[in-house]
Amino acid sequence: MSFVIAIDGPAASGKGTLARRLAAHYSLPHLDTGLLYRATACALLEEGLRLDDVESAVAAARSLSLTDFDEKRLRARDMGEAASVVAAMPAVRAALVDMQRGFAARPEGAVLDGRDIGTVICPDAKVKIFVTAAPETRATRRALELARAGEEADYTAILEDVKKRDARDSARSAAPLKAAADAVTLDTSDLDIEEAFAAARGIVEKAR
Ligand code: C5P
Repeated sequence: MSFVIAIDGPAASGKGTLARRLAAHYSLPHLDTGLLYRATACALLEEGLRLDDVESAVAAARSLSLTDFDEKRLRARDMGEAASVVAAMPAVRAALVDMQRGFAARPEGAVLDGRDIGTVICPDAKVKIFVTAAPETRATRRALELARAGEEADYTAILEDVKKRDARDSARSAAPLKAAADAVTLDTSDLDIEEAFAAARGIVEKAR
């Protein structure tokens, strides 16, 4: 397999920022796979459909074009929650596999981040990093991020959200959130972004 960096971890662990920074550093294309699930949920909600409508969710996932969606809307808090509902459906996950693997198969390599990149989408990735942080740290980061974006950011509600999403993502039977056996775990609880980026680069250099 070409130079694929698989980054997984729970909500607001810092995996997205690390994935973006690593992609820029190594001049690789980057796919934030969470956006695929967010966009699938968004497509259903915009059409007034239920999130547990499997048939419509699969159809939406199959015909997905990320450029059709406003990224700010996709990244809103309620969409993360909605995404985790559609992401628990095996048929939705199956509908998104080829697109993700196609992205990973680019000749120059790629960086993908999500929940199941190292375990399901790219089990042969050269580098696998599992990014974690304490739920309280993640909630604080997410609150800051939302406040900066001008969104409502109540810490207690966000912490509850983070814990609920962790539980749903970890407990589902289809591709649950877990580190691949050969992933290196990077706990960013006590690291700032520069320290986390340096640690991630160190993991990549060692594995490539
Ligand atoms: O990473 P992000 O918060 O954008 O992901 C939103 C939701 O999409 C997650 O809570 C998870 O349920 C789902 N997801 C997934 N597999 C991925 C990426 C995201 O199940 N590879």
